[in-house]
Amino acid sequence: MAKRVLNVGLIGGGRGAFIVNPHQKAIHMDGTRRVVCGALHEDPGVAMEEAGKWPYPIKGYPSYDEMIADQAGKPAGQRVDYVVIVTPNFVHFDPALKCIKAGIPVFCEKPLTITAKQAEALEAAVGKRKVPFGIAHTYLGHWSSWAARWIIRSGKLGAVRWADAYYLQGWLATRLETVGQMQASWRTNPKMAGASCCGGDIGSHAYMQLRFVTGLEVTSVRGIVETFLKGRQLDDHFTTYCELSNGGRALVRASQICIGHKNDLGLEVNCERGSLVWRQEEAEGFIVRLPGEPDRQYWRGELKGKDSFLGDLPDWVGAEPTIPSGHLEAFHDAYRRLHKSFEEDVRLYNDGRPFACDGSRYANVHDGVMHMRFIEAAVKSSKAGARPVKLKLS
Ligand SMILES: NC(=O)c1ccc[n+]([C@@H]2O[C@H](COP(=O)([O-])OP(=O)(O)OC[C@H]3O[C@@H](n4cnc5c(N)ncnc54)[C@H](O)[C@@H]3O)[C@@H](O)[C@H]2O)c1
Repeated sequence: MAKRVLNVGLIGGGRGAFIVNPHQKAIHMDGTRRVVCGALHEDPGVAMEEAGKWPYPIKGYPSYDEMIADQAGKPAGQRVDYVVIVTPNFVHFDPALKCIKAGIPVFCEKPLTITAKQAEALEAAVGKRKVPFGIAHTYLGHWSSWAARWIIRSGKLGAVRWADAYYLQGWLATRLETVGQMQASWRTNPKMAGASCCGGDIGSHAYMQLRFVTGLEVTSVRGIVETFLKGRQLDDHFTTYCELSNGGRALVRASQICIGHKNDLGLEVNCERGSLVWRQEEAEGFIVRLPGEPDRQYWRGELKGKDSFLGDLPDWVGAEPTIPSGHLEAFHDAYRRLHKSFEEDVRLYNDGRPFACDGSRYANVHDGVMHMRFIEAAVKSSKAGARPVKLKLS
């Protein structure tokens, strides 16, 4: 029997908004989800206008409060199956908490909130209400992230000794926030972005890529959080030296002032018997380096045959790709993989069955708590002259 198409609601995403666009595409990519309603802007009039301009009919709401209240009152099957929050960081906590309390699953943009305390409150609410909650750490959705995770966690390369997780950009190399650029304006405002601009915006991605692929926690962090552009309120350069839960070490670093770097997110994991190199700008594959051997370049869609290194690679890792190798997947496909995985948990939730939401396919609310603690620890350490700050892990 054909599945009922899931109803998705949006909070944020009107008038010049950025990240709603890839979400919208990814939501529709499988044909099993569709956007049905939205509270798209903070101004009620603009919110309704923007809903009216949506490429196909959706129900507009003047505010997310009205949307959540109205949707929560509808019978199961007719209300939204999940809500996607694509507002600036300071408008994540309140709508997320209200959705959770109404029993509506949430897929929220990162960073989860503007303080670790808010993130912990969301985690507690999710634990109490037992509702699926995902976080849009986009790059975890690349097939190559899943495969890299399997390889490192399988122990094939031995224990992790040293990792370098980085995210370099150049778009804030001038003070875009002073010329009214919407995305720069709120990202550099501590009331709207949180304790860190660069760390929260993109350092959080580097941190999550490290955790997701290695399965290790950052237990202690020494941070140097810097602002290169005079007059800017928050950091634009974020460097941390981290201790890992297995005794290994890592750099987690990010910059928004490196002209020429676009979305240069990468991860290099050096282990006892080899290393793995991954870059999101070439996310079709990754490289494994073994001593005394030519580098092994693995491609999405080409792992079915396995080899002497991959050995017992499970079928699901090889089988997941949707199009043949060489026809490139990219950012939208990564988002699609996250929505598809979240959809599976939402369907189980709708049926009253246990759902995983365990962070193995997409980031969950605990991952959000951890990235908020990491950002705050880095900022705290930096203010104290890069003194090590321990992270609370549970
Ligand atoms: N995962 C990723 O790769 C990625 C990439 C970019 C942005 N993000 C995250 O996505 C979020 C949004 O970023 P963006 O760049 O799209 O921002 P944006 O400024 O382009 O868009 C934000 C939208 O939220 C709306 N909004 C603000 N307050 C609202 C309210 N009270 N009710 C309804 N709508 C409201 C704005 O009108 C706008 O439409 C941020 O948390 C950001 O960190 C994630």
